[in-house]
Amino acid sequence: MSTSSRIYLDHNATSPARPEVIDAVSQAMRIVGNASAPHAHGRAARNLVSQAREALGLAMGVCAQDIYFTSGGTEGANTAIHSAVSAGCKRLLVSSLDHPASIRAAEDAGVKLEMVPSMRSGILDVAWLKDTLENWDVADGRPFVSTTAANSETGVIQPVEAIIDLVHEHNGLVLVDAVQALGKTSLLVQPDYMCVSAHKIGGPMGIGALYVSPDAPYSAFMQGGGQERRRRAGTINVAGASGFHAALKALQDITHIRFLRNTLEAGLKAMEPKLVIFGEEEDRLPNTSFFAVPDAANNTLMMNLDLHGVSVSTGMACSSGKVGASRAVTAMRRSDEAPKGAIRISLGYDSTQSDVDGFLGAWAKIRKLTSFVVSPDDACANIQEEKVG
Ligand SMILES: Cc1ncc(COP(=O)(O)O)c(C=O)c1O
Repeated sequence: MSTSSRIYLDHNATSPARPEVIDAVSQAMRIVGNASAPHAHGRAARNLVSQAREALGLAMGVCAQDIYFTSGGTEGANTAIHSAVSAGCKRLLVSSLDHPASIRAAEDAGVKLEMVPSMRSGILDVAWLKDTLENWDVADGRPFVSTTAANSETGVIQPVEAIIDLVHEHNGLVLVDAVQALGKTSLLVQPDYMCVSAHKIGGPMGIGALYVSPDAPYSAFMQGGGQERRRRAGTINVAGASGFHAALKALQDITHIRFLRNTLEAGLKAMEPKLVIFGEEEDRLPNTSFFAVPDAANNTLMMNLDLHGVSVSTGMACSSGKVGASRAVTAMRRSDEAPKGAIRISLGYDSTQSDVDGFLGAWAKIRKLTSFVVSPDDACANIQEEKVG
């Protein structure tokens, strides 16, 4: 089956490049010139980058001049943590709901690391954070706290404003990973660092951005040329920035996506009396659903959906090599409700009612089977690479 006739429900892993993005990238690639060069060719390239930065400033709700282009969300999170540690933060508090981009960077930072617990709802435990900050040892330097704006598996939107206010009351620094939230929920917050990535909104892969507040410490992650006002060495990705700009311009109201997601969940509930939808009671990204059925392994379901032409994800399952392991479900302490793991569907700008109908039809067929064609152990063993989408 060609991928064009398949149903794609994995936008949180990556959203297909929008046609206008492909046009913008190819047009920008026809422009000759290094954006750092002073001549007319360089100025033309620089102009595209500046326009993209302005558009990002509006989308992120921050001053465009405080935004630096990166290679993606991972680089943004790593740079923020590197900056905080270089400035003397000796104890990092990282959300247990964070993406490995932040968790691994913090593990690697060579300072103390504590994971901020999640509540069963999928929301960060702000009371725990408050208590920890109130008992902060000044010898640990300024507190540093990392949180996602919205979890990539459940889509649950975090109380970012309250977290920022709390951390700032204690003279701390906050990184907000807005990679999944950009374009799907409001970002009117003022953290110290905020990272985003183009490929989650139909932009090109390999370009992202980091906002750094003028008051926050910054330490360049890579040494080299003086690009991005000496903050991010390396020739600027003009085509990537143009593609990011085109994706931002194409962002639109996604009320219909929420409707499609809710229709899909209603259809599933009608078929599955024991369905558990993680974070259902909370404010979630309108495109995301993370659910489990107690009697079927997520990898088996994913593989069978794949055979029926539907691409979905098991979230971050398999990252520990164990069937059923999901970072979010584990952090929420609800593994008992997903003994065989969970499935994530994530819709996007090009999703339609016929995708939802196709998914529900495939699901119905699969669940009528008495034996599945792929055993969960085989499926997991085949997935060597860690899944972090
Ligand atoms: C919440 C979150 N943060 C960071 C990343 C990493 O972004 P990138 O792929 O641009 O490095 C992802 C990607 O899945 C993500 O979902």
